[in-house]
Amino acid sequence: MSINQLVYVSQATRKMSSIELNEILRVAKNNNQTMDVTGSLFYNGGWFLQVLEGPLDTLNALYKKIEKDPRHKNSRILYNEPAKFRTFTRWSMNMTNLEDRQADKYEQLIEVIEAAKTDRKIGAASPAVTLLKIFKE
Ligand SMILES: Cc1cc2nc3c(=O)[nH]c(=O)nc-3n(C[C@H](O)[C@H](O)[C@H](O)COP(=O)(O)O)c2cc1C
Repeated sequence: MSINQLVYVSQATRKMSSIELNEILRVAKNNNQTMDVTGSLFYNGGWFLQVLEGPLDTLNALYKKIEKDPRHKNSRILYNEPAKFRTFTRWSMNMTNLEDRQADKYEQLIEVIEAAKTDRKIGAASPAVTLLKIFKE
């Protein structure tokens, strides 16, 4: 089945506690699993960056719902294109809190490396991955 990759950034409407972030993650995981959606969510204390992967119609409907969430605002799609394969195959959703210096990014790194191995071009060609790198710096 063909899939799309959608990346957006948004501004948190307030400072998120780890409890609030975990609640977003819990609901996202549950819902995404049933919709064949995978992805990753980053929070840096003020902004969210999320990558969503799945069937186009599903993603568009999901994005419409997420966009209306009062926990963030000024959401902007940076990228929404067909993808040959998923980058985040292991997670219906995964969260990295970049505020938390203890956050272990190793698992995610492995995932990106695995994706890169499947198609050598991904590192250079996937804007989603490039954006994630920029966001993390
Ligand atoms: C930054 C952010 C990311 C979110 N990501 C997802 C997501 O990937 N999947 C999802 O179902 N809900 C996500 N949500 C939550 C949705 O906005 C919404 O609250 C939720 O889908 C409602 O679920 P329900 O219809 O089961 O009550 C996110 C919310 C925020 C603030």
